Amino acid sequence: MSKNTNVSVVHNDFSHLLEEYPIFKAIAEEANVLRFSSYIIGGYVRDLILERESKDIDIVCIGSGIDLATAVAKRLNLKKEVTVFKRFGTAMINYQGLEIEFVGARKESYDPSSRKPAVENGTFEDDLNRRDFTINALAISLNDKNVGELIDKFNGLKDIENKRIVTPLEPDKTFSDDPLRMIRGIRFATQLDFNIAEHTLESIKSNSERIKIVSQERIIDELNKIVLSAKPSIGFKLLDETDLLIKIFPEFVDLKGAEIINGIGHKDNFYHTLQVLDNVAEKSDDLWLRWAAIMHDIGKPATKKFEPNHGWTFHGHEPVGAKMVPRIFKRLRLPTNDKMKFVQKMVALHLRPIALVKDIVSDSAIRRLLFDAGDDIDLLMDLCEADITSKNERKVKQYLENFAKVRIKLKEIEEKDRLRNWEPPISGELIMKTFNLKPSRQVGDIKKAIREAILDGDIPNEYEAAYQFMIEKGGELGLVCQ
Ligand code: CTP
Repeated sequence: MSKNTNVSVVHNDFSHLLEEYPIFKAIAEEANVLRFSSYIIGGYVRDLILERESKDIDIVCIGSGIDLATAVAKRLNLKKEVTVFKRFGTAMINYQGLEIEFVGARKESYDPSSRKPAVENGTFEDDLNRRDFTINALAISLNDKNVGELIDKFNGLKDIENKRIVTPLEPDKTFSDDPLRMIRGIRFATQLDFNIAEHTLESIKSNSERIKIVSQERIIDELNKIVLSAKPSIGFKLLDETDLLIKIFPEFVDLKGAEIINGIGHKDNFYHTLQVLDNVAEKSDDLWLRWAAIMHDIGKPATKKFEPNHGWTFHGHEPVGAKMVPRIFKRLRLPTNDKMKFVQKMVALHLRPIALVKDIVSDSAIRRLLFDAGDDIDLLMDLCEADITSKNERKVKQYLENFAKVRIKLKEIEEKDRLRNWEPPISGELIMKTFNLKPSRQVGDIKKAIREAILDGDIPNEYEAAYQFMIEKGGELGLVCQ
């Protein structure tokens, strides 16, 4: 993701856009023919100033957005039709990999008890007033009299320079119009590394209850953008501070706190998890590895115990956490498919490599880990390395060195035994045919015995050896070769 938040040039003339991009020239000219005023508005303008890549362009016009989109598509000879959203009075075209959305200027207000906006036509002024943040209320004129001029009614440019997220109107009004904006504000603060103005932040806190009227699909889109940011902890800390997190993801907030008994404390698993998430984010853009980081200790509150002789323990938090994943994914409207299974697997296995570090290192334990992790072994190792958050540098160094050894060992054993995505060398059919068996428990027992013998290193992962072992095992069970 390209990110440049240093605004050194003062921008007020964007007329060059019309020369550089035929799409803007086409929009300006067609709006002229229709006698509409038109403007580029919102995120595209913000990202232009921040020199961030942007794939969506929003055009607002004083008139029908659908008519303008249709005229522009016709002029550009676009083969694909205009996508019209009649209910919202908007239309979209795709042009050279860009999505361009056209909308007539509007006033918008939400009934406080409803999720649906009440939309009516409005002036350009109204349209600017209804925007979420000053940095998103910037517009560039496409009209003859001031083409290319930046229209900045709310000093959004200054707020970009000062790295400030602030609402154009009273924040209570802006957030009550669409409570999702509370999370959007936090998302922009995280993505852009901006600060949220104090008054705006206070308003988020006092309106946090209203997030409950927003659909989970919209919430998760924003949450995933936070998760995919360069430093996601910024967003989660703000979500927590404003009491939004407890409403959308209470299990995460349950990780908070460091209890002390008899002078013995444990680490605060909320901040630890955020550190792990940031560590993963430094290494990988994989959304699901990042979710695995978020979830890796989610079973800790449920398994926490103080044992007088040992101090704090969280025995079994990995399987308990893995079991919690589907319910949480479903509620958050994250996909309940192989992505969820991947996260479950990471949560379930996240202590296994650490165990290998402690006891360097039996081949059979390595084989079993390769067998259980399959193709995800490298990502699991990435997660485990990110999980080292000790402040003691010597300890961190020691752990990382040991993990490096485990990685080498994993590679050696994998090259020798090929256990990643293991396929049994002897099939169930062959066992049935050899001993003239019907499908039965005995077939499963023999298959399992072969697998265990390979994982324990008693026999190599090869057909000949496994066949021989099957014959012996069958003999032990009193079966006769056919
Ligand atoms: N907008 C708003 N309130 C919302 C959503 C959007 O006021 N709840 C306005 C903002 O002016 C925003 C514009 O609509 O800039 C476009 O919204 P969207 O495409 O969702 O976001 P962008 O600002 O373009 O940011 P991004 O592309 O990063 O999502």
